[in-house]
Amino acid sequence: LASRLKATVTDVIKKLMGLGVMAAQNQVIDFDTASIVAEEMGAKVEKEVVVTIEERLIDDSEDNADELVSRSPVVVVMGHVDHGKTSLLDRIRHASVTATEAGGITQHIGAYTVEADGKQITFLDTPGHEAFTAMRARGAAVTDIVILVVAADDGIMPQTVEAINHAKAANVQIIVAINKIDKPHANPDKVMQELTEYNLVPEQWGGDTICCPVSAVTGEGIDNLLEMVNLVAEVADLKANPNRLAKGTVVEARLDKGRGPVATLLVQNGTLHSGDVIIAGMTVGHVRVMTNDKGAVVNEAGPSTPVEITGLAEVPAAGDIFNAVEDERLARELVEQRKFDQKEEQFKQYQKVTLDNLFSQI
Ligand code: GTP
Ligand code: MG
Repeated sequence: LASRLKATVTDVIKKLMGLGVMAAQNQVIDFDTASIVAEEMGAKVEKEVVVTIEERLIDDSEDNADELVSRSPVVVVMGHVDHGKTSLLDRIRHASVTATEAGGITQHIGAYTVEADGKQITFLDTPGHEAFTAMRARGAAVTDIVILVVAADDGIMPQTVEAINHAKAANVQIIVAINKIDKPHANPDKVMQELTEYNLVPEQWGGDTICCPVSAVTGEGIDNLLEMVNLVAEVADLKANPNRLAKGTVVEARLDKGRGPVATLLVQNGTLHSGDVIIAGMTVGHVRVMTNDKGAVVNEAGPSTPVEITGLAEVPAAGDIFNAVEDERLARELVEQRKFDQKEEQFKQYQKVTLDNLFSQI
């Protein structure tokens, strides 16, 4: 600072002492302090605007209203273990995932699009085990609607409450699917009663929470449930701009022996093209092969579309944000920087912990 002010170090230190700052010669002082000193010494101070790589690379500008078009809703199915999330999704897309899953427990978030009444709905499946809470929290952040599955013979359980909290925190609309109504001990009224304790008052009782009695096994009530999803989506008036670089979330990712890192992405805005350079969390790559949820190779994917891609250098984490970008070299630099920042953050955490330990011993 002294050399920039063409002053001596002693002069600067004296000024600082005048301000009550006891500084040594090589001490770092903050911008505000430095600018007071500099102005008192007759300099004109301006804050230099530093454009980060992130800002140069990633277009975070708002969309113009006239570029926005309707997009389909992204729905996540949440609920307590074994309340029938996977069975319900199976029913909805007439497939059978439950039978092939290890132990019948969903291991990861799957994503697929179904059509109801000629309208597309994108579903995300989430795991039901407590260990996957963090992932489920991410699941809630990318969705428009949460279908809360509650088994009519079991009622509200700890993970039902967790799901309600996630949905509320993310400001996501909840539709309750009261499942397993085919069971002899099913008691949908009891479920609705319990819901009121969480400020979810059923429409049937004059509130504004949509409750749909369903059976994933017999298929009863499923059409009504999908109708309700479309209705809620219509009211929400969901929009996106297909004419910009794609942005979205990594839904799941894994390392495939033959194909390398494989990631399921949910495009949330813009359009993703095969060949695009993307940065996803701490990794970069070109979209090499892109397939839709039916396994067909596609060359582009617009808003609310889930796709599986290959071409990333490393496996990203579920929940990472991805961006299509124009400058590959800069994208690599940004990844390096993010990795560096992460290490620094870890080091800070480590330091904090050791200090805490130190104090707790005194
Ligand atoms: P996790 O992924 O482990 O959290 O479970 P889930 O919520 O996906 O439940 P899943 O679909 O695996 O269903 C759990 C069990 O309940 C299975 O044995 C299903 O066959 C059964 N089940 C699901 N829905 C219904 C239903 O509507 N009626 C009856 N009778 N059984 C159901
Ligand atoms: Mg499941």
